[in-house]
Amino acid sequence: MWCIKPDAATHHCSKKSDDLCNHVCGQESSEATGMTRIRCIMRGLDVKTWIFLFAVVPMCIFGIYLHGQKITYFLRPLWERPPKPFDVIPHYYNENITLENLCKLHGWGIREYPRRVYDAVLFSNEVEILDLRWRELYPYITQFVLLESNSTFTARPKPLVFKANREQFEFVENRLTYGTIGGRFKKGENPFVEEAFQRVALDQLLKIAGITDDDLLIMSDVDEIPSAHTINLLRWCDDTPSVLHLELKNYLYSFEFHVDDSSWRASVHKYQSGKTRYAHYRHSDMLLADSGWHCSFCFRRISDFIFKMKAYSHYDRVRFSHYLNPKRIQNVICKGDDLFDMLPEEYTFKEIIGKMGPIPHSYSAVHLPSYLLENAEKYKFLLPGNCLRPDDHL
Ligand SMILES: *[C@@H]1O[C@H](CO)[C@@H](O)[C@H](O)[C@H]1NC(C)=O
Ligand SMILES: *[C@@H]1O[C@H](CO)[C@@H](O)[C@H](O)[C@H]1NC(C)=O
Repeated sequence: MWCIKPDAATHHCSKKSDDLCNHVCGQESSEATGMTRIRCIMRGLDVKTWIFLFAVVPMCIFGIYLHGQKITYFLRPLWERPPKPFDVIPHYYNENITLENLCKLHGWGIREYPRRVYDAVLFSNEVEILDLRWRELYPYITQFVLLESNSTFTARPKPLVFKANREQFEFVENRLTYGTIGGRFKKGENPFVEEAFQRVALDQLLKIAGITDDDLLIMSDVDEIPSAHTINLLRWCDDTPSVLHLELKNYLYSFEFHVDDSSWRASVHKYQSGKTRYAHYRHSDMLLADSGWHCSFCFRRISDFIFKMKAYSHYDRVRFSHYLNPKRIQNVICKGDDLFDMLPEEYTFKEIIGKMGPIPHSYSAVHLPSYLLENAEKYKFLLPGNCLRPDDHL
């Protein structure tokens, strides 16, 4: 039974007939429905076409299996709008300018004494980056608050890495509030639930650390490092926004691979008890430009890469076990390729295409954390031209 819908709704259906078909196929009658056309095409298929269907189509399906995530990511601009843009606050800084003038340049007043600043992080295994972070921020932080769990967000048991390396962080000992928490080990749960659970515990730890109203609180991942001068500016200036996101330069594997400048998740809050909740999402529209560095997967050892890839909230991205092969990982690090063989997460075709392929090498080590340059030998793997990692996994 074939349906054809003429303008007059009374005439419903007519029996299948070649006449009708020829009419529809040949003349592209405006009366033909899409359905009728498809049936007409099907009748015209010959053997070659069927071979095509049975050979090429399965190959396409296999291709989609291998690259499905790439395809959906590539088509992302079609199904997802970019988030609302931030109101970016210009950031003025030069070592030789007084704080008073710096505050004035931002349209802010200067305080008689600086605010107290709390830096709170959930720690996984980023020992080197934590060292850089704390050395960078040390002069301006009242209390460092660190919470670590014996579970990854993906419900795998994790050694207490900070505890094992604590003596390396002697220099913060008198400003450190350290807490541990037992994981819930719920298999198959969305990793973001465990993450949220740990963030709630971090709120408790902050109270134990003695945070009070109007203190500044830095909420960020360990690898999102605000520059020292940014925090100094925010603790000395008055009338700064009560919640301010920090725009950080994105790096991958080391400071050799500068991805872009668009990291925004780190934020600084004027603490309000009962209201301020530790979270890692967007809290406001205000973004202070050029405020530090976000160094993702900046590990010394290949084994740390493998651990992080498994512990990551996006563990589903490890689609094939060879992704965890140490040789492959070392290759990817030196080339600036993607560990998960994914496409850039962008919202326009222009940006996706512009960022496809490896990240270009950068040879600049200007304006990096000072402790990194002062200890260049120890942290060589983070500097341009040193992508080879000790292979402790073979
Ligand atoms: C730094 O500031 C001082 C006084 O404000 C000025 O004399 C000096 O030339 C400045 N140095 C640089 C490198 O701009
Ligand atoms: C994690 O820590 C909790 C509390 O300290 C403990 O009860 C639990 O046995 C630990 N689990 C693992 C796998 O280490």
